Order: sequence, then structure tokens, then C-alpha cells
Amino acid sequence: MSDDAPVDLTLVPPALRVADLPALAAEFGTPLFVYDEDHLRARAREYVAAFGAGNVAYAGKAFLCTAMAQLVAEERLHLDVATGGELHVALHAGFPPERLVMHGNNKSDAEIIRARDAGIGRIVADSFDELARLERIGFAGDVLVRVTPGVEAHTHEYIQTGTDDSKFGFTVSTGAAADAVARVASSGSLRFGGIHSHIGSQVFRMDSYAEAAGVVARFADECERATGVTIPLVNLGGGLGARYLATDPDPVVAEYAAALRTGLGDRRVMVEPGRSIAAVAGLTLYRVGTVKRIPGGRTYVAVDGGMSDNPRPVLYGAGYEAYLPERPDARRPLRCAVAGKHCEQGDVIVADARLPEDVAVGDLLVTPVTGAYGYSMASNYNKVPRPAIVFVRDGTARVVVRRETDADLVRLDL
Ligand code: LLP
Repeated sequence: MSDDAPVDLTLVPPALRVADLPALAAEFGTPLFVYDEDHLRARAREYVAAFGAGNVAYAGKAFLCTAMAQLVAEERLHLDVATGGELHVALHAGFPPERLVMHGNNKSDAEIIRARDAGIGRIVADSFDELARLERIGFAGDVLVRVTPGVEAHTHEYIQTGTDDSKFGFTVSTGAAADAVARVASSGSLRFGGIHSHIGSQVFRMDSYAEAAGVVARFADECERATGVTIPLVNLGGGLGARYLATDPDPVVAEYAAALRTGLGDRRVMVEPGRSIAAVAGLTLYRVGTVKRIPGGRTYVAVDGGMSDNPRPVLYGAGYEAYLPERPDARRPLRCAVAGKHCEQGDVIVADARLPEDVAVGDLLVTPVTGAYGYSMASNYNKVPRPAIVFVRDGTARVVVRRETDADLVRLDL
């Protein structure tokens, strides 16, 4: 592909390729998160087809709001919540509690009590301290034991979770994992629900998954032999990568499912995809406010959002594409940085963007593939109100989260 090629529109989900994005910007303002609702549903269905409806829990941390929780419920998935806050949103949305899975390496008494009182189906236990807490509180659902398989996923260090040096879970290699299984199984009050493992996020390599599945499979077999406990379910977490850049691979859910079956025979396998359901479905629509051309240096194209609506470039050095939706087919010879509006030099959304040479103040600019870990990690840094979210379906847009107002910025102040 030549250096100034137009954006690869296969990064944009079908409904948003044909949607009138300028009209959405005019109606709802910018920055704006726009989702292709059918794409979210299609991804959910791909997972259901590969694993079975009862074996897929959408990981709400990737993107959660009332409408998303309802969509997930309609698509018959389970929902993984990682905090009391995510639990609250799920319950507020009317999500069936028996289909909720609760995570967290440091769940508080209050969070567990809330989960117990709501009657959630499963909790994933992360430490011996937590097992004691679950017994004391009398959690009545299934208790899964999170194990760390000692596998290095090929991804950013900050989102790697399967290695022995991890704050999550019980280590397989030290024997802690087997002890935890025995502990739950012999507890008079807890109900053992299986084992859980999650090696990391934004992982493309199927061999990483196969390796982790293999370790978990061996562990499950040995554990059953040693303790006599039957392991009814193996939850292998989430992590399948999303295609952010045209040059990234585009993982196939069915291949991922095949890798995860490695060594697991006919054991029941559950997964918790987040990013691979939500990322590609969403894009962010910004308005260009300034274009600064530094002679002999870079060109900065500043937009009306930034690290407050997408902290991933700053946190992980994550790369994104950019294009101008009013001229999606234009060639993009201008190498530039798309910067945000925050008071930091590092507030860059796309460090090495390509845009049409004549990009100008007032243009709309899209960063595709912002549907996961964008809004969910958004902040009010510099007191910038968080954007609105719209879902587009059958050519119609509906606001599912309204834009924050200045009043929202002081609503907690006393
Ligand atoms: N299950 C567990 C236990 C997890 O910890 C995670 C993600 C998932 C499922 C979902 O993983 P996914 O399919 O979305 O990769 N903020 C980072 C990602 C952090 C992921 C944390 N755990 C980012 O923006 O890349």
C-alpha cells in the first residue's frame, strides 16, 4: 500500500461506512462515540455460534452502559462485571443476575454482599483472603478459582495477566491453585463452579491461547486426580485482539475457539470477550480546531477531545488510524500528529496519522476502532465533559448516553 493511500474502510463497521457522520456530528455534537449496533450484535452472535450462548460472558469493562447491557442480555450472553459499579449498571439495566459473573482481585465486603443479595450466578475468586470473605458473607452462587498459568501473552506488559508475577489469581506452579480448588470444594458453604484463567488482552497469537489452554487442561486433569473434585467448567477469560490498524491481523473467532480447546477434550469452556465484541463497532467523531504546521517539524492537527476520551495511546502507546469522513476516499499524504485539547504535550491520539494535505479547521475527523476501552476509561481531565454515545441501526441513530454538561462537572461538589 502506498504511503498516501486513503483509509482502509474495512476498519469501519458496515453501518458506519454508509452513515451520514457529518449529520450525526451536526445533530449530537463532537466528540461523539458512534456504534454500529448490528455489528455489536453480529460479533456477539459469532461468539455464541463458536462457544454456545451459555458459555460467553461479555466483559463489561470494555464498554458498558445501560443500552449495552440490554443488548448483551438480548443476545443471550452472560455478562462479566469487575466491580460493584459495573454490577450496578448491569442490575440497573435489568440484566438477569443469574447470568452475571463477578470479577476483581480485591472485592470488598460491600461488593460481595451486593452480589449475594442480587443472586448473581458466579463469582471468580482471586485470593485466599477472598475465599474467607465469601464464606463469611455466605455467597450462594458458583465460586470459580482464578488460576495463573505462567504463560506470557504476546501483548503489552500492562495488560498481561497470565504470568506467575501477577496480582491476579492463584499460581499453578506454586501449588496455590490446587490448594484453592481443594479449599473451595471442601468448604461446607461454598459451591465450586470451576476454574478461570485470563492471560491478557489484545492478544493475536493463537499459540499463546493454545499454550494457556494446555496448561489449564493439565492442571484440571491433575487437580481432579489429586483432589477427587470434578471441575465442571473452565473459563478461559477474554483477550482476543482487535484490528486497530489496517496492518493488524483480523482474528477469526472460530480459530480462537479451536485454539482454546487445546487439551481440553470435551470439558465445558467458557470465555469472556470484551474488546473483540466492542472495539470495531465504535468510532469517535471529532472536530478539528487548529492545524499547526511547524516548518521543518511536525504538523499538529488538534481535535476537540483527547486523552480524556481515549487514554489508550498515552497509556499503552496504542496506534489508531484517522480519516476525514467528509472525504473518506481522499489520499492522505500529510504525515501529522492528531493531538487532543488537554494541557499535556503527550496528549496525542494518533502519533503518526496520515491525512489529506488540505486538512483544515472545521473538518470532521474520525478515529475508527474506539469502541472498547475508550468511553470505559474516559475521564473528566481538565474538566472536559465526556462525549455522548449514539447507537446507529437501520439508518437511525439513538442517543444511549447523553453528553455531560458543565452542570455535571460540579454535581459532586459541596
Ligand atoms: N476477563 C478478564 C478476567 C479480564 O481481566 C479481561 C480484561 C477480560 C475478560 C476482557 O478482555 P478483552 O477481551 O477485552 O481483551 N484497558 C486495556 C485492557 C485491559 C483489559 C483488562 N482485562 C486496554 O485498553 O487495552
